[in-house]
Amino acid sequence: MPEIARALHVLAVVLWIGGVAMVTTVLLPEIRRMHVPAERFGVFHALERRFARQARWTVLLAGASGFYMTWRYDLWGRFVMAEFWWMHAMLATWTVFALMLFVIEPLFLDRALARWSATRPEAAWRAVETLHRILLALSLVAVAGAVAGSHGVNLLAW
Ligand code: HEM
Repeated sequence: MPEIARALHVLAVVLWIGGVAMVTTVLLPEIRRMHVPAERFGVFHALERRFARQARWTVLLAGASGFYMTWRYDLWGRFVMAEFWWMHAMLATWTVFALMLFVIEPLFLDRALARWSATRPEAAWRAVETLHRILLALSLVAVAGAVAGSHGVNLLAW
């Protein structure tokens, strides 16, 4: 069973972080190039809606499978050991995305961005691009650290 959980965990991470990489490195720069600031958010929301739905269930699946493995292998002790920084990186990445997708965006960010983009569209767009770059960087550090770490190699001590 934990092997199945690991396979599901990686599948969820591939779909979710792969989508974040696509949005950050392809979609956002192309929308910037092809549209004036006032149009960008409309285009972005139309294109991103399906991915946001996909991101919600892949985040849930990655979290459930991750916690299941932690419980089955009894890995809780890793969270107090610095050499398992990549466990913290996974948990931090997951927490930030879960909060964004399930709490901050629906309750507050969507409306705040709509208001901001109506008055200062260029600044609002830059903030969206920067936020995506930071989240992608954090995710990639977590992926690299976790793949190496779960096979016994601490990338930071290399
Ligand atoms: C609630 C959050 C999460 C928990 C509790 C969790 C837990 C785990 C556990 C227990 C493992 C197995 C470690 C081992 O075999 O020593 C694992 C592997 C892995 N996790 Fe997570 N994880 C979480 C979120 C994430 C996120 C957000 C990412 C990516 C950004 C991620 C990427 C990976 C990868 C790539 C592996 C390695 C798979 C392999 O090479 O076998 N995890 N995770």
